[in-house]
Amino acid sequence: ARYVGQRVVHDIRNDLYTHLSSKSMSFFDRHQTGDLMSRVTNDVNMIQFFFNMAGTVILSSIAMILFNLIFMVALDWVLAVSLLLLLPFFLALQSLARRVVPLFRQANEQLGVVNVEIREGINGVKIIQAFAREDHQEKRFDAQNSKLRDLRTKTIRNIGLYIQGIELLAGAATALILGVGAWRVVHGDFTLGGLVAFQGYLLLMLAPTRFLGFAVQISHQAITSGERVFQIIDTPLEVEESPEPESMGQIRGDVEFENVTFQYGESEPILRDISLHIPAGQSLAIVGRSGSGKSTIVNLLPRFYDPSQGAIRIDGHDLRNVRLNELRSSIGMVMQETFLFNMTIAENLRFGMSEASMQDIRHATNLAAADEFINELPDGYDTVIGDRGVRLSGGQRQRIAIARAMLVQPAVLILDEATSSVDTRTDQIIQKALEGLMVERTTIVIAHRLSTIRRVDQIVVLDEGVIVARGTHEELLLDSATYRKIYELQFKLQEDGVTVATEGGDV
Ligand SMILES: Nc1ncnc2c1ncn2[C@@H]1O[C@H](COP(=O)(O)OP(=O)(O)OP(=O)(O)O)[C@@H](O)[C@H]1O
Ligand SMILES: [Mg+2]
Repeated sequence: ARYVGQRVVHDIRNDLYTHLSSKSMSFFDRHQTGDLMSRVTNDVNMIQFFFNMAGTVILSSIAMILFNLIFMVALDWVLAVSLLLLLPFFLALQSLARRVVPLFRQANEQLGVVNVEIREGINGVKIIQAFAREDHQEKRFDAQNSKLRDLRTKTIRNIGLYIQGIELLAGAATALILGVGAWRVVHGDFTLGGLVAFQGYLLLMLAPTRFLGFAVQISHQAITSGERVFQIIDTPLEVEESPEPESMGQIRGDVEFENVTFQYGESEPILRDISLHIPAGQSLAIVGRSGSGKSTIVNLLPRFYDPSQGAIRIDGHDLRNVRLNELRSSIGMVMQETFLFNMTIAENLRFGMSEASMQDIRHATNLAAADEFINELPDGYDTVIGDRGVRLSGGQRQRIAIARAMLVQPAVLILDEATSSVDTRTDQIIQKALEGLMVERTTIVIAHRLSTIRRVDQIVVLDEGVIVARGTHEELLLDSATYRKIYELQFKLQEDGVTVATEGGDV
């Protein structure tokens, strides 16, 4: 059983991981990381504990009880039947046991909440210390942690009550058998030896009954854990591959948005009636104030989310009908927040393109102006970065992300520009690299740089999720008051060749 337990748990955990990594982005908007972690670790452990222990205990206990019952009935059925008098009490106890189940559930959920707090405490430690909020955070944590303790205490108290009940019942059974048995012996219906043997069987039966009570508790807890795990596995995917996906073939990169309206979950529409057309190989810049929906537009392209209304097409294929893998591997993304894995630099670069040769990699990092600093790292391309390795600066991370996207040779390149991460000189180098990268492919840039908006084929101006103007830089300066305002705030200062660090694009 232990072996089976390990295998089942291993499979469940794998299954959970697969499900988590293929969930729609909206799923992660709704669930907190700490809660999900607690399900993958704690709840799966509980299921394992059940398989390891309770599973065997339950089977052998039931067998023991049955055998002893058979002997008891064979020995003296009248005595055996008199035990039925205690059945209602036993059933009452079982209903007490059932009351514990929701407590287990609440405790599990609360553990998720506590885990969320722990995670935030660790990830946010810099901010917490910078604002001297340690005390406040500790109090917050203590409140949640106390709630968890109270729930657990209540659970344990109820279990204690149950165990006491079982003990009481065992005592009552012994007394009952002695009483009824003595009466039957006195009347000559039963032998004294028989009564002693009967008592022996009863004792043998009581031990597994107690075990069974305990095992039932464990299985209840395992059941609630199982529910939590399967809640994840059974959540339907919102973005799902069509059952008969079309192949996109050789992708040219003609991108079209047709009357796209989108909202996250139940919220107000974030994008309204967006129509765009970028012919293959051309470039589009999206400008707009912070929160106007720029990142949201580009998140629809790899189908992180599906539009609520309207359609998005690449080369005429509606995204909902194409193979997800094909779609996503034809898109290169350099996001606002760069995520790198806890692996070597080379492995990170190869992430989208495992076949890439060292030569390809060097070429890409060269273009992304990253080779210089990589070569200066202790182990060069084999340096482990991330949590357990070397820490990189924001600008260095961004350049690795650009090289990673370049390696895939995507037909469509999406760039969420962030000017804050690099110094002017590096910025100019990256600009050159991107220029080269943009030539042969469709590019959508969320622009924060003057050089970018001057270079692209068309610009759309987004305001509160609506396209309010479109055209080239010169045209828009003449036509659009919104554009002029954004230009004054964001781009004008860059005119004398100085890149101003705009905070992650906030205007
Ligand atoms: N995952 C999400 N769930 C719910 N609402 C979201 C989500 N992501 C963004 N929003 C909301 O959608 C709106 C547009 O956000 P978006 O990230 O597209 O703005 P943006 O134009 O990229 O801004 P910035 O220039 O600051 O990056 C915001 O009001 C934001 O609160
Ligand atoms: Mg954004």
